[in-house]
Amino acid sequence: MAVDLLLGLQWGDEGKGKIVDVFTSKYDIIARFQGGPNAGHTLVFNGRKHVLHTIPSGIFHDNTVNLVGNGVVIDPVIFKKELDKLEEQNVDYKTSLYISRKAHIILPTHRLLDAASEASKGKAKIGSTLKGIGPTYMDKTGRNGIRVGDIELADWKEKYRALADKHEAMIDFYNVDIQYDLKELEADFFNAIETLKTLKFIDSEEYVHQAQQSGKTILAEGAQGSLLDIDFGTYPFVTSSNTTAAGACTGLGVAPNQIGDVFGIFKAYTTRVGSGPFPTELFDEDGETMGRVGHEFGATTGRPRRCGWLDLVALRYACQVNGVTQLIMMKGDVLSGFKTLKVCTAYKYKGETITHLPYNIEEENVTPIYTEVKGWSEDLTGMTEASQLPETFNDYVTFLEKELNIPITIVSVGPDRKQTIVRKTV
Ligand code: IMP
Repeated sequence: MAVDLLLGLQWGDEGKGKIVDVFTSKYDIIARFQGGPNAGHTLVFNGRKHVLHTIPSGIFHDNTVNLVGNGVVIDPVIFKKELDKLEEQNVDYKTSLYISRKAHIILPTHRLLDAASEASKGKAKIGSTLKGIGPTYMDKTGRNGIRVGDIELADWKEKYRALADKHEAMIDFYNVDIQYDLKELEADFFNAIETLKTLKFIDSEEYVHQAQQSGKTILAEGAQGSLLDIDFGTYPFVTSSNTTAAGACTGLGVAPNQIGDVFGIFKAYTTRVGSGPFPTELFDEDGETMGRVGHEFGATTGRPRRCGWLDLVALRYACQVNGVTQLIMMKGDVLSGFKTLKVCTAYKYKGETITHLPYNIEEENVTPIYTEVKGWSEDLTGMTEASQLPETFNDYVTFLEKELNIPITIVSVGPDRKQTIVRKTV
């Protein structure tokens, strides 16, 4: 069986967790392939909100295996907190949660390095979640990292010490004021490592391969969004992994010709948290309304998200890089009440009108060109059937489908599992 992918097409926070949860009943295995606890995947069901950071979003379903793939970076302390929350809710994760031996571990000093690096950048800071993501991937590509499989080996603590000592020297080099008590951080870390060791570590690429051979269905769950991809995002204001479809191949060991459907998720408008260019960003009442109605605050950091109109230039680019086969539009309900909606269909760039994403999308280089469409006034949040959706809403969706040339098969009209409407099947 081919592996299906589910990816965010903007700057993250599109609602991937909710849709993975909705899709899980159709899959035997849900597999995270990149990122780490910088992600915050929110699921709402039975009147309760759940936020997952590293654990795949299929964890609340019985009979589904949840795999943390080799491309993910794991902070044992945050992971343990997630497990504790699952335990409180009597989720039996011990038999359904597998971890790749090749996943890298975030050390306490990786988090400190992240903080030191950001502090040293001043105004040019990335706006990182400070979870140690960048430094951990740097150690991975620098071939210095510690992997989950290492903690099964007798000498791993020596390797840990050498790396942590090196990190401390690097922190000193940054010459910024970072207060920390490493002994305390390490006590938590080693305690959490013991919890991690109670889970099932596997050679995940082999597991995925065997699962495919035996006809099991697999959904690869992305984290962050395509515009935060280390190669294709708005560098350097990006995360440190490949958030796009190629990342699923390297982050799980799936061959490119084994990819099936690619579900691309986007919000009916655009948000971004952290620094970096955002051509359609709003600084007016419209942006404020989107933020307030859409509860646009980071699930991991609580930071307010920047809001703006939908940017089809960026979205088209993300569809292309990912090979999206079906689109899922989130948060249409948030736009209820806007008389007119604006959609960016092209950029003015160096005096020319362009429809592709140029190298540099800083404010001084691109000006969005908008098409205006009629808004809708109806409250969508109680709707459960496509037939209930107002005509103006359908016109907006159809306009986007034509511009992107990809079907929008599902629209989400609220955070709950139930607020998910299938528009069409393909
Ligand atoms: P880092 O990956 O924590 O270093 O953060 C790098 C950039 O990606 C920052 O602008 C973060 O705000 C952003 N970022 C990281 N993870 C997420 C996410 O899950 N949702 C939205 N933005 C994210």
